[in-house]
Amino acid sequence: MYHQNLEEFPENFLWGSASAAYQIEGAFDEDGKGPSVWDTFSKIPGKTFENTNGDIAIDHYHRYKEDVRLMAEMGLKAYRFSVAWSRIIPDGEGEINEAGIDFYENLVDELLLYGIEPVLTLYHWDIPQALQDKYNGWESREVIGSFKKYCKVLFERLGNKVKYWVTFNEQNVFTAMGYRWETHPPNVSDVKRMFEANHVVNLANAEVINLFHKIVPKGLIGPSFGYGPMYPATSNPADILAAENGNDFNNSWWLDVYCKGRYPVFTLKQLKKNGIAPTILPDDEELLASAKPDFLGINFYHGGTVQENKLEKPIENQHKERAFSATDPYLMQPKEEQSQSPEIPMFHSVSNPYLEKTNWGWEIDPVGFRIALREVYARYDLPIFVTENGLGAIDELTESGTIEDDYRIDYLNAHILEMKKALTDGVEVIGYCSWSFTDLLSWLNGYKKRYGFVYVDRTEQDVKDLQRIPKKSYYWYKNIIETNGKNITNKIEVLK
Ligand code: BG6
Repeated sequence: MYHQNLEEFPENFLWGSASAAYQIEGAFDEDGKGPSVWDTFSKIPGKTFENTNGDIAIDHYHRYKEDVRLMAEMGLKAYRFSVAWSRIIPDGEGEINEAGIDFYENLVDELLLYGIEPVLTLYHWDIPQALQDKYNGWESREVIGSFKKYCKVLFERLGNKVKYWVTFNEQNVFTAMGYRWETHPPNVSDVKRMFEANHVVNLANAEVINLFHKIVPKGLIGPSFGYGPMYPATSNPADILAAENGNDFNNSWWLDVYCKGRYPVFTLKQLKKNGIAPTILPDDEELLASAKPDFLGINFYHGGTVQENKLEKPIENQHKERAFSATDPYLMQPKEEQSQSPEIPMFHSVSNPYLEKTNWGWEIDPVGFRIALREVYARYDLPIFVTENGLGAIDELTESGTIEDDYRIDYLNAHILEMKKALTDGVEVIGYCSWSFTDLLSWLNGYKKRYGFVYVDRTEQDVKDLQRIPKKSYYWYKNIIETNGKNITNKIEVLK
């Protein structure tokens, strides 16, 4: 669809930015906070870049007022942050830690003081270690009750101040990294366990959405999903089918459950055939169908390109390398190997020759952002809140003390322009949060890979003084907000 004129953003559009507790707060054991799985996992040698961890991070816990002041000076309309469960209930299910609640209440009050809409994420990957030890974390249904208790505390204490709530951040990412690829806690490699844990998270998501609607009837809640459109490598119908499979497996597997209350048929059947489908009890279906999100949070970084899998070779990054041949049908593989590779009969991932990549190999795909917004809106008919989008890059502090991150401005401008086109197409987008406001700890890439509008002066090993320095992109976004996106055009003018 080509539009000669793009529609303007709605007057109340939520121009925001986002973060997550473990990546910014530090103060990992202060004021009664219990350890989370990330406090433990990041201490395993070799798991993170240069063994970085969030013990201090950017010390937002002590400097939140300074950070909020910078947000206010920028004119930010919304700030998305997450609550660390183990600050509120240190062992995940027992005593409530008032000091933890106070911290978030103070943060919310500070935001409201400047007219910044708080957007609260309940779970950004940091389940209390005690629940991991006692129940095996998300693999046990016991944890659903613990999660409800924690959420109830927040709904009751902050429900009158916070309107927008996110249940789970990127369930697709933390379950895959944690239970399949051994790159996040709990450091497991077993797809059957991944699908089981994922199902428990789905149930927890549904339970807290229902609970929220009872306790905070005027609030709005939804999950934040890491969405990537799936492209066929060619116009060969076999590749189109592969892309449909890829979409089913990578996106609908979660979004259908959130919005329609059931798993997509084809992927579910495939998993059952391989003996790796989750255990779905009769009451589960009723619960999943009963929970209705008010909006969908979409995090967009990149999509993927796929082709028909002729079973000649395993997918890229397959951690169990083995050779396939056309005469070696998939279903003849030993059960264990089938179950480790559920995608193999469905699609095969390839690189996209039309897209450039970031320094970390992530495809840069602004048009894919528009496609993503349209696909999600057409399929689920819910307002969309873009809860993350941004560029991870190596930023240099110049001798004159500035950070000239024009590449980030280009990236954000291109994506916001496509969002404006999606809006003109007819998608209802209520807000946009860049990732991230300040620089922060990248889970696996330390402080080398930076995303913020505000530079934080520290390295992996040297905490320095953690000085906050607004980058060039800070002033650019300030202007975008001031003009409600009117300056988002194909021509970039940087104001300082
Ligand atoms: C998203 C997460 O997946 O991507 C964020 O919600 C994360 O927490 C962001 O930081 C960027 O990932 P990375 O690996 O580049 O730091």
